[in-house]
Amino acid sequence: MKLIFLGPPGAGKGTQAAVISKKYGIAHISTGDILRDNVARETELGLKAKKYMESGQLVPDDVIVDMVERRLKEEDCRAGFILDGFPRTVVQAEALDKLLEKLHITLDGIVYFDVPDDVVIKRLSGRRICKSCGAIYNIHSQPPKKEGVCDLCGGELYQRSDDEESVVRNRLKVYKEQTAPLISYYEKSDKFLRVDASQDSSAVVQAIVEAVKK
Ligand code: AP5
Ligand code: ZN
Repeated sequence: MKLIFLGPPGAGKGTQAAVISKKYGIAHISTGDILRDNVARETELGLKAKKYMESGQLVPDDVIVDMVERRLKEEDCRAGFILDGFPRTVVQAEALDKLLEKLHITLDGIVYFDVPDDVVIKRLSGRRICKSCGAIYNIHSQPPKKEGVCDLCGGELYQRSDDEESVVRNRLKVYKEQTAPLISYYEKSDKFLRVDASQDSSAVVQAIVEAVKK
C-alpha cells in the first residue's frame, strides 16, 4: 500500500498515519518528524530548516525533495509507505511524480483530509506529543491517562513550538496558498480519496480503510 496523506495542519494526518501504517505494516514517512529530528540533533539540514519551521513557513523544495528521495530508497519502504506532509507544493508534487517513475513505484491513493479551520485550530491548541516515542495526544479529544505522561512509554509530553496560535494561523495561510492547490492537482485522478476528517479518530481510520479498499 502506497499512500499520500494530504490536508491542513492539525487535520489528523500524523495520528491516522500511525494507525494505518501499523495496520498494513508499511513505513510512515512524516517530513515534519524527519525535520524536527534534524533540528533536535542540530544537523546541517536541521540548522537550515529551523528558521522556516519556527515561523510556519515551508522549508525550500529542493531540501525536502532530496530528503524524501533518500528516505524512499530505504529498505522498509518496499512493503509500502504513507507520505505524511509531502508533497506540500506543486513543485514537490511534480518532483514526486518524476521520482516515483524513476523508482518504478505506483501510488495506490491520495487521501485528502477534509476538515474546517475552526476544528484544526482547536485540535492544534490541545495537541501534546511524547518526547520519547512521538505518540500524539490531545487534551480535549485524546487525553493521556495521567496528565503530561505518555500512556505507551511513560515519556514526558510537550507542546510543539509551532502550535502557538499566531504560528498556527500562519501555517494555515501557507497551507491555503501553497498546499491547497494540490487538491486540484490530484482531484482528477481516480486515486484521489476525500475523507471527512472532522469525525472522531476511529471513524476517520474506518473511512480511510474503506476508501483504500475500493
Ligand atoms: P508537519 O509536522 O508536517 O505539520 P503539519 O502538516 O502542519 O501537520 P501537523 O503535524 O500539524 O498536523 P497533523 O495533520 O499531522 O495532525 P495530528 O495528527 O498531529 O510540518 C511542520 C513544519 O515542517 C512545516 O510548517 C514546515 O515548516 C516543515 N515541513 C514539513 N513538511 C514539509 C514539506 N513537505 N515541505 C516544506 N516544509 C515542510 O493531529 C492534531 C491534533 O488533533 C492532535 O492533538 C490529535 O490528537 C488530534 N486529533 C487528530 N485526529 C483527530 C480526530 N479525528 N478527532 C479529534 N482530535 C483529533
Ligand atoms: Zn511515549
